[in-house]
Amino acid sequence: MSTPSVLLTGADSQLSRALTRTLAKAGYSFGGRAFQVHALTHAQLDIGDKQSIAAAFADVKPNWVINCAAYNAVDRAEMAADEAYRVNSLGPELLATECALTGARLVHISSDYVFSGEPAEVAAQALNQCGIINSGFIENATPAPLSVYGQSKLAGEQAVLRILGERAIVIRTAWLYGVDGHNFVKTMLRLMASAPDGQLLTVINDQIGSPTWVDALAHLIWQLIASPLKVSVGSGLFHYAGQGQCSWYEFALEIQRQALALKLLDKAVPISAIDSLSYAAKALAKGNKLAPRPSYSALNSDKLRKILTHQYTGFSHCPELWSDWRLQLKAMLEDYAAQGH
Ligand SMILES: NC(=O)c1ccc[n+]([C@@H]2O[C@H](COP(=O)([O-])OP(=O)(O)OC[C@H]3O[C@@H](n4cnc5c(N)ncnc54)[C@H](OP(=O)(O)O)[C@@H]3O)[C@@H](O)[C@H]2O)c1
Repeated sequence: MSTPSVLLTGADSQLSRALTRTLAKAGYSFGGRAFQVHALTHAQLDIGDKQSIAAAFADVKPNWVINCAAYNAVDRAEMAADEAYRVNSLGPELLATECALTGARLVHISSDYVFSGEPAEVAAQALNQCGIINSGFIENATPAPLSVYGQSKLAGEQAVLRILGERAIVIRTAWLYGVDGHNFVKTMLRLMASAPDGQLLTVINDQIGSPTWVDALAHLIWQLIASPLKVSVGSGLFHYAGQGQCSWYEFALEIQRQALALKLLDKAVPISAIDSLSYAAKALAKGNKLAPRPSYSALNSDKLRKILTHQYTGFSHCPELWSDWRLQLKAMLEDYAAQGH
C-alpha cells in the first residue's frame, strides 16, 4: 500500500505551518504509514486558478487536500470583494471539483464570521440549545454574515458541501493564533512591549468569541485524517474552537497576565475597554473604515468532540485539544517563550 499523500494549500499560513510542525512532533500516520506532505505556497498553487489546481493534483496525486489558503483581511475585503470571493469561494469550489474528479478527500476551513451574533440569531441559537445561551453556535444555526469576508467564507463552505457532501470535512474555527504569522496574541505582545509608560491600550469588549490555538486545530485535523470519519456521520460541517468564550478585551487581559508570568513582558500596560462603535469611529477618524464584525460568534465544538472521541483511538499528543481557551493560550505562549522571544 502506498504512502498517503497530503496536499496543503497556502503553505505560509498559520495553519499550514502548524500542520507541518505538529506532524513532525507527533508523527501521526494512517495504518502505520507516514503521511507524505506537499505544502504549496500561494506562488506555487493559486487556488483561484483551475489550471494551477489541475497541475498540482497531477504532480502530488493527493489522497487528502487540506485547504489552508484564504483571503483573511476582513477590513480590506470590503473594498476587494472580487478577490475575497475568488480565494474564499471560487478557490474551495475548484478544489472540491478536482477532489470529486480524482477521489481525494478535502478538509476545508471556514469561519465564525459566518454568524452575526445579532439578537435574533443568538435567540434562535438559544432555542436550539434548549435554552442554554452561552455554549456557542452549533453547526445548524442559521448563518447571517455581516461582512464581505464572512459572506465569501460562507459561499466557500456551501460550494464544498454542495459538491462533496459528507465526503468533505468543513471546519468552522475562530480567532486563530499561534507562534507563526500575524494574529491578535502576537500583536498584543508587540503593542504591550513597545507601549510608552502610562499609555493605555484600548481593546473592544462587546465582541464575544472563542480564541483557538492553531496547533490544537492542526492536531485535530491530523486525528481526523488518521482515522477518517466514516461518510454518514451527519453533515460534513463541523465547529472547532478553544472551549469557552471571551471578549477581545478579556483576551488581551489574559494575554498580558500570562505573558508577565512567563517573563515575555517585563511591565504591565493599562488596558481599557471600548465598544465596537466607538472603536470604529476612532479608526474612521484615522482614515480606516472597519468591516462590521459579529457581536457574538462563539462556537460550540460538541459534535466534533463526540465523533472524534468515538472514532480516534490513537494518542492525542495535544492535551489542550478540548481545553479552555486560557490553557490553549498558555501552551502557545510557552512555545513562544521557548523560541527565545
Ligand atoms: N486567522 C483567523 O483568525 C481565522 C479565524 C477563523 C477562520 N480562519 C480560517 O482558517 C484558515 C487558516 O487561516 P490562517 O490564519 O492560518 O491563514 P493566514 O495565516 O492568513 O494565511 C492565509 C494564506 O493563504 C494564502 N493565499 C491567499 N490567496 C491565495 C490563493 N489564491 N491561493 C493560494 N494561497 C493563497 C496567503 O498567501 P499570501 O500571503 O502569499 O497571499 C497566506 O499564506 C483560513 O481558511 C481562514 O479563513 C482563520
